[in-house]
Amino acid sequence: MELEQILIQFNDDVTKVETDESLNSLRTKYLGKTGILTDALKEIKNVPVERKKAYGESVNKIKTEIENKLENLKLQLEDKLIQNKLNNTKNIDLTIPYSHDKGSLHPVTIAEHKVIEVFRSMGFIVEDGFEVETEYNNFEAVNVPKDHPARDMQDTFWLENGQVLRTHTSANQNRVMKQYGAPLRAIFPGRCYRNETVDASHDTTFWQLEGMVIDENISIANLIFFMKTMLTKVFGKEIKVRLRPGYFPFTEPSFELDCSCPYCDGNGCSVCKHGGWIELCPCGMIHPEVLKMGGIDIEKYQGFAFGLGLSRLAMMNKDIRTIRVLNGCKLKELKQAKIK
Ligand code: DAH
Repeated sequence: MELEQILIQFNDDVTKVETDESLNSLRTKYLGKTGILTDALKEIKNVPVERKKAYGESVNKIKTEIENKLENLKLQLEDKLIQNKLNNTKNIDLTIPYSHDKGSLHPVTIAEHKVIEVFRSMGFIVEDGFEVETEYNNFEAVNVPKDHPARDMQDTFWLENGQVLRTHTSANQNRVMKQYGAPLRAIFPGRCYRNETVDASHDTTFWQLEGMVIDENISIANLIFFMKTMLTKVFGKEIKVRLRPGYFPFTEPSFELDCSCPYCDGNGCSVCKHGGWIELCPCGMIHPEVLKMGGIDIEKYQGFAFGLGLSRLAMMNKDIRTIRVLNGCKLKELKQAKIK
């Protein structure tokens, strides 16, 4: 085919292109391995020497022109596609109620934010910890040496390198004491792990919020007053507290703190299992050994600590019956939980 003829034919072919597929076959027809223009280029070997240069230049010029046109056509087709889509959306009825699910914070996050806000207002610093901990921080530094029977209280996930998935946020106590010294008011919320049999209120993964107050002349009276004030602020209503004796190696004396049920004001309801009280927060006066290991001068300072069950608080707050709902993250189940 004569060179001029090629361009004329191409310009004619171009007018028929309407889809990506036809564009591609047009490209192959002219520029493919056995395409018209590729053949024309191969023809150069049969062209007399004196015309070779001019011939080559012409073929290349046509090639560039065809390439440019194909590129433009591609852009035009893309535009057309977008335009078609826009035209079709004209029929969408914007007044139909929007039915998509809206995102929201997880119940544990809601509880955590609420508690942190209260503690911040009381002058506490908020610290982070590590979910993978050393054996020392998780056990020894909180007065649970090797072979201490208390290690059996917390079934532990051990890692191959001898570290553990922390079984409690108390694992961060030593680090925080060493970092800030006394006087200290700190909380550290976080996720903990135990190798436990799962039931309605126990799971292998749960959240705690640890707190420590260290200062001069701290006594159990401070602990009671403080916990009462804090819970009253968290629940936004007057809360009573009571202490029962407990046992933890890192506190002496140790307590289980119950609060009056905020949902029925202690009259009895399903949340407090009709007892009027809810077991909420183990606590106690920090054991002198624990203070010493944290570098605190025990001649001068005492303190109390507590481990608030954040998962438990979140379950209470949203009336969630089994802890599995919190970790399962099934939106349907989480949504069914009432917000109180
Ligand atoms: N670490 C304990 C646990 O997970 C909870 C606890 C009890 C924390 C007493 C404390 C405390 O800080 O003083 O079972």
